[in-house]
Amino acid sequence: MAKLIFKTSEGDKETVLNKGERVLAAAYKLGLDADGFGECGGNCVCSTCHVFVEKGLELFPESTPAEEDLLDTVFTYQENSRLACQLMLKEETDEVIIELPSA
Ligand code: FES
Repeated sequence: MAKLIFKTSEGDKETVLNKGERVLAAAYKLGLDADGFGECGGNCVCSTCHVFVEKGLELFPESTPAEEDLLDTVFTYQENSRLACQLMLKEETDEVIIELPSA
């Protein structure tokens, strides 16, 4: 389990991310999908779940070729860009910080 902080344009939102749970699921719990976030439901085909991992990148699996292909199409790509639907927490930690590109 980890404290998960989303930095959004409306300020920080906090929830809990369990081991084996995906960041996208946590975003849904917070209602962050209201703006079209995570539109494809986690099937790795839309890229609307693009986020920046500010803290805890090493706690998630490496990106797959399919994720890399989608990230290549993202206008605001940065070194710490990932797709929230592909971010499944591998191990317990104290805190993960995720920034939404619109923040
Ligand atoms: S929810 Fe569509 S790619 Fe992540």
